Amino acid sequence: MAIPKIAAMLRLSRCERDMTVTSSLPASKHNLLSELATGLDQHSLTWLSGYFAGLAEARPANDAPVPTAPVISAVVGEVGVNRRATVLYGSQTGNAQRVAEALYERLESEGLPVRLVRADRYSTKELKDEVLLYIVMSTQGDGDPPDDSIAFVEFLNGRRAPKLSQLKYGVLGLGDSSYPVFCGISQRLDDRLAELGAQRLLAPGAADLDIDSVATPWTDEALQHARSELDDAKAVGKVGTVTPLRPKSAYTRERPYQAELLVNQRITGRDSEKDVRHIEIALEGSGLSYQPGDALGVWPTQSDSLVDQIVDALALDGNETVVCKDSSRPLREWLTRWRELTQITRPFLTAHAARVDAQGLHELLQPAGASDLRRWLETRQLIDVLRTWPAPWTATELVQALRPLTPRLYSIASSPLAVGEEVHLTVANVAFEVGGEARWGAASQYLSQLEEGQHLPIFIEENTRFRLPSDPGRDIIMIGPGTGIAPFRAFVQHRVETQATGRNWLFFGNPHFSSDFLYQSEWQRALKDGHLDRLDLAFSRDQEEKVYVQHLLWERRSELFEWLEAGAHLYVCGDASRMAVDVQETLLRVARHEGKKDEVQARAWLDQLAAQGRYARDVY
Ligand SMILES: Cc1cc2nc3c(=O)[nH]c(=O)nc-3n(C[C@H](O)[C@H](O)[C@H](O)COP(=O)(O)OP(=O)(O)OC[C@H]3O[C@@H](n4cnc5c(N)ncnc54)[C@H](O)[C@@H]3O)c2cc1C
Ligand SMILES: Cc1cc2nc3c(=O)[nH]c(=O)nc-3n(C[C@H](O)[C@H](O)[C@H](O)COP(=O)(O)O)c2cc1C
Repeated sequence: MAIPKIAAMLRLSRCERDMTVTSSLPASKHNLLSELATGLDQHSLTWLSGYFAGLAEARPANDAPVPTAPVISAVVGEVGVNRRATVLYGSQTGNAQRVAEALYERLESEGLPVRLVRADRYSTKELKDEVLLYIVMSTQGDGDPPDDSIAFVEFLNGRRAPKLSQLKYGVLGLGDSSYPVFCGISQRLDDRLAELGAQRLLAPGAADLDIDSVATPWTDEALQHARSELDDAKAVGKVGTVTPLRPKSAYTRERPYQAELLVNQRITGRDSEKDVRHIEIALEGSGLSYQPGDALGVWPTQSDSLVDQIVDALALDGNETVVCKDSSRPLREWLTRWRELTQITRPFLTAHAARVDAQGLHELLQPAGASDLRRWLETRQLIDVLRTWPAPWTATELVQALRPLTPRLYSIASSPLAVGEEVHLTVANVAFEVGGEARWGAASQYLSQLEEGQHLPIFIEENTRFRLPSDPGRDIIMIGPGTGIAPFRAFVQHRVETQATGRNWLFFGNPHFSSDFLYQSEWQRALKDGHLDRLDLAFSRDQEEKVYVQHLLWERRSELFEWLEAGAHLYVCGDASRMAVDVQETLLRVARHEGKKDEVQARAWLDQLAAQGRYARDVY
């Protein structure tokens, strides 16, 4: 298979790298370090490097935000270590984390002993002593746990899971009902806890993208149970968080900042099938801050033409006042700023089917039509439903049935050290046709059409699991095809500004070299200046046989494995459904081939990398 040969290597001498490491240690530890290393073979040294990397990941870096609450893992006092509630969460993009933090804060404000823990920071040996456990977890992949919860879920499902007859619990799942397995992982967790003998305090919650309508009543009920379960333990006072709460910002998802758009530039060529934008946004004066690896949340506004089409299709009056959930607004405003119009869900289709006698629609909703329905939902929008199967809706019924608009996230493509009070994004404009008519994605079209000087509502979504190594001497491997390139632009900018000594290796892919090489000149300059040590490119359609990043990983398997065994951190960003799955399969294959591991060992090796924070994903 022909692979483009744009690759370069820059190696620091071993001596230079060793000096960097020891010089950052206090002098009192130098002797200890050399004593520890003396006589160890290569395998043991590699193991130690991984061990220390794991320890480093578990501790806040010098520049990490200071925890806002004390880090205490057990309640002391007369009522004993177990008279407390634990709120445990698993979250990929921050939603479950937000709900868990809110529950924690409400319990704490009532003086109840409670602690907050992210699933990957939870010590599973404590499970047998827990008396009250609330789990808030989103579902990812195809009914799978989020990355931070894989080990916890595996433990609970495994043979080592203890009997839990002392435990009372509640589980809240977050999901998206347009996926075939809605809230699959939380449902399975709930079942498993019951199977292990724990007592379910409240029915499992399953929150759709309209999170609060389920999360708020679930949280109220969880609070009531905690009051009666822990009343006698109130005297204990604060327990604290094992996982720090996020620093509070003046601007949040609910109260976004109105930021000025500085640049909106197409970065794919005229011949490209993709319209990808480089977007620059001003943060000056907002007080908002971010780190490479974080995402930017954007609240879109629906286009006037789409709102017109929907109002016309239903022969409604856009000025009619609609009251829904204590808010009163004209229909047009509801549709423009508060409702999803470009995504439809099964519950909406079911509600529509009850209004029209259409055989095709009823067939689609039968269990046998599941895969057709999935495909249909991926490409059709509200306007297609209304035109294909016309049916009457009043303005109020429509607003009640449509899903509330949710913000979209975009991986940040800049380092504040390089761009100051700005934030950059790389946005693919989602555009396609249905029956010869244009269809688009709400947020990507909104962003693509914004003009410089206009304002947009934004917030920062932290992603503490997708961070550069705290040791600047570590090598990094970045796999980011398509818009997956975004966070790696931020990473490399940051490594240049902080004069990080570790090597940077980037894998990028897209259809064509000539039209789809995102940030081409920046990468070529980085290579020339020694800021990028290796660049491997997969332009899938530039030759007869398709080449993707996972093929390049396999081609480079020996060096790839060497880098990882020497402590490199590996990051994957971009498409979740195919690319991230294929990359993971390839990494396992590399471990089997290069590390002479069997299937179980290869998986354990990758799990270990993930647990050490050396295999991190930002996939969507
Ligand atoms: C953590 C995270 C980071 C992300 N980072 C980036 C990023 O850096 N750059 C980026 O461009 N996106 C990124 N995304 C995706 C982004 O959030 C939006 O999902 C994407 O822009 C589509 O949103 P939309 O509102 O335009 O489309 P929607 O209105 O949500 O979708 C409209 C229709 O288009 C279909 N559709 C949605 N996406 C696609 C697609 N890619 N191709 C074809 N059809 C589609 C849907 O099924 C639907 O029918 C990220 C997502 C997450 C969760
Ligand atoms: C790549 C991806 C896969 C998903 N898969 C599922 C799924 O299989 N089932 C489901 O109910 N929700 C699924 N979701 C929806 C998320 O669970 C939902 O957006 C949730 O609010 C995310 O919460 P978090 O931010 O805490 O991770 C998926 C979302 C993404 C981005």
